[in-house]
Amino acid sequence: MKIVSVPIPGKAYDVVIETGLLQRIDHFVDANRQIVIITDDNIPSIHVETVVAKLPSSLVLKVPEGESSKSMEMALSLTDRMIEKNITRDALLIALGGGVVGDLAGFVAATYMRGIDYIQIPTTLLAQIDSSVGGKVAVNASHMKNAIGAFKQPKLVLIDPLTLETLEPRHFNNGMAEMIKYGLIASKPLFDALLKQDVKSNLEEFIESCVIIKKTIVTEDEYDTGIRQILNYGHTIGHALEQLSNYALLHGEAIAIGMAMMSIGMPFEDDLRRLLHKYDLPDTYEYDKTALFEYVRTDKKASSTSLNMIVVEEVGKGYIKPISLSDFKARL
Ligand SMILES: NC(=O)c1ccc[n+]([C@@H]2O[C@H](COP(=O)([O-])OP(=O)(O)OC[C@H]3O[C@@H](n4cnc5c(N)ncnc54)[C@H](O)[C@@H]3O)[C@@H](O)[C@H]2O)c1
Repeated sequence: MKIVSVPIPGKAYDVVIETGLLQRIDHFVDANRQIVIITDDNIPSIHVETVVAKLPSSLVLKVPEGESSKSMEMALSLTDRMIEKNITRDALLIALGGGVVGDLAGFVAATYMRGIDYIQIPTTLLAQIDSSVGGKVAVNASHMKNAIGAFKQPKLVLIDPLTLETLEPRHFNNGMAEMIKYGLIASKPLFDALLKQDVKSNLEEFIESCVIIKKTIVTEDEYDTGIRQILNYGHTIGHALEQLSNYALLHGEAIAIGMAMMSIGMPFEDDLRRLLHKYDLPDTYEYDKTALFEYVRTDKKASSTSLNMIVVEEVGKGYIKPISLSDFKARL
């Protein structure tokens, strides 16, 4: 078992990583508490059943799988279902699923009766190494991803790498894009290990390395006003491509293309492309520059005249570089 503490002042919590942890969920969660589990309808029932067997009085609420569930309508529907079932302010909400479930359930936890406790049980690689840690929760508006949200730290994050065995390869690879990103922005040893090793042979260690990087960054800058922005490497272009493709590109796939574009001419460009290919991730995309720029211009990370671009010139050393929107457009 590996435990990574996230020491955010006043809101510290642990991330526990253990293969088979789901079978022992009642060691970490008080089964006598009023519990609501939010999950989606595509998560293999074995995972939901394993949790419910140990926490039998839980109320299970399912949402349709996919990005479209990250909406105000869905948050309201969950809230209504919780009110109907007399869920009180001292209840515990559990997000059991990928980043969609984590962001949506976290948003409900942040707003239900002005906020209730929640824990994250991430079941995709992306959610295990990224979205479950750091407290960013959100739903989408019609034309902007994550437009309505909050910072709401979980009380606990429970990661069982065994859940990834049922994940489709495309979704596993989707998470690999974020793992590669961590290496590029913060850890040459991680990037080198990814080049040499098979991630699946050492999953717990690779997940732990990513969680340690994420917790270090979010502890220093919980509210994303400074260093946390380096986590957005490849994301300005990536988020725009994700929306431009109407979500045909998964988040990690879009970020992979964004990183490949940002790495052009850098000494690690070939290694990066090799890694992306190793995990069947795309590194190019045909797009309309004007349409892409429109999404970049209206990205919530951009101001009216500039945006903070994340630059990596040397593996492991990402930094923030403000750039005017006109210069950014010229680079596309
Ligand atoms: N909050 C943050 O800091 C943060 C960071 C990165 C991404 N995100 C968000 O995360 C979301 C993407 O998350 P995602 O990639 O996990 O997608 P997802 O939640 O849609 O999950 C992908 C698919 O895998 C299925 N699934 C989940 N666990 C499974 C398992 N163990 N076995 C089989 N199938 C399983 C889901 O039902 C879904 O169909 C996006 O909305 C993105 O904006 C949030």
